[in-house]
Amino acid sequence: MTMSLEQVARAEAEVLLPTYERNRVLFRTGRGCYLYDDHGERYLDFLSGIGVNALGYNHPAVRKVVREQGARLIHISNLFYHDYQAQLARKLTRISGMDRAFFCNSGTEAIEGALKLARAYARAHHATGSNGAKPRWRVLALENSFHGRTYGALAATSTRKYREPFEPLMPGVRFVRSGDIHDLERKFDASVCAILLEPVQGEGGVNPVGGEFLQRARALTRESGALLIADEIQCGLGRTGRWFACQHYGVKPDVITIAKPLAAGLPLGAILTSNAVAGAIHPGLHGTTFGGGPLACAVALEVIETLERDGLLKHVKQVGGYMRRQLEALKQRHSTIREVRGMGVMLAVELGSADAAKFAAAECLKRHVIINRTHDVVLRLLPPFIIEAKHVDLLVSTLDAVLGQWEATGKQKEGR
Ligand SMILES: Cc1ncc(COP(=O)(O)O)c(C=O)c1O
Repeated sequence: MTMSLEQVARAEAEVLLPTYERNRVLFRTGRGCYLYDDHGERYLDFLSGIGVNALGYNHPAVRKVVREQGARLIHISNLFYHDYQAQLARKLTRISGMDRAFFCNSGTEAIEGALKLARAYARAHHATGSNGAKPRWRVLALENSFHGRTYGALAATSTRKYREPFEPLMPGVRFVRSGDIHDLERKFDASVCAILLEPVQGEGGVNPVGGEFLQRARALTRESGALLIADEIQCGLGRTGRWFACQHYGVKPDVITIAKPLAAGLPLGAILTSNAVAGAIHPGLHGTTFGGGPLACAVALEVIETLERDGLLKHVKQVGGYMRRQLEALKQRHSTIREVRGMGVMLAVELGSADAAKFAAAECLKRHVIINRTHDVVLRLLPPFIIEAKHVDLLVSTLDAVLGQWEATGKQKEGR
């Protein structure tokens, strides 16, 4: 039975946990950079399912693997071999310079696993007690971070409104001001087993952490034997124009977490790490029922091969550069825009107020352009990697009209 938007919304209000305030659009299909609603109306997507649909919708290569592998084998558990985990791990270790992978189902799970890995590594390498060494168990994370909603990941997520209702969280996390090397040095000591950071913060408003800070975090952790964990769940796998955002700064972390675009929308995350760190793990220490199943891994393999085959990292650099220039030009025309920032096709337009950002995101949707508001005042743009200049032009002309409307009418209302 096909239900109308009203029927779906009413049914959800009755039977789902009220975790989301959804936009009132019911999507039924997608193709390329476009989504289509229940009336067949077309929307240009500059969010890609929050940074997931890097190849857009209904990509023929993905469709083929889903159909063929879906008919062969979807799930087998990690008690048996299948054809794709090793192949996918080989690809991921090659592009990241890491040695080993562990597959899970989401970004949050990759973070939980990485935190466990940091503690396991510290225990294996920095014995406590008899030699008088201090226990290493603390994690340094950054202000404005977002790493997920489970207890460990949430403990490393700085946003108070996400944390407070669920405290006490996992103990041992301290927050460092992003980009503040002095604060990092002050808080880093021999009790720290890991620094966890997003090289480009996503939910926190698209903030690149910067080369100097990242390099200092690398040096501190290397000297002390703590781990540097790069959360590349949102910024990794090509979104910034390189496979990993860390690579822009010549920094090689000990652990990289990935997820979002990895399997084109099927749930798949991964922890990538070195042989040295992997030595702290043995059978039974960590695991998952669903993680790394044959369907998700076969699709992920195809995603990586398509990114390579179609030269999409280079394309991201080019189209991302064009988008950035067009948005900078837009800033010259609108006093509401405070800043344009980001890398590749992970860009942000920061506005002067939360009301302006709320208005802009809602008006864009009315005009069938999907963008996202994050960190109250930031319009976040995470389009599929396959966008072209014509899509950017439509986004920018829509934003131009919407911000013009805000400046003519909304601002006055806000002032009342
Ligand atoms: C940087 C980062 N880390 C972790 C997560 C959590 O990932 P997931 O929602 O797949 O559990 C997200 C999700 O937005 C993220 O952006």
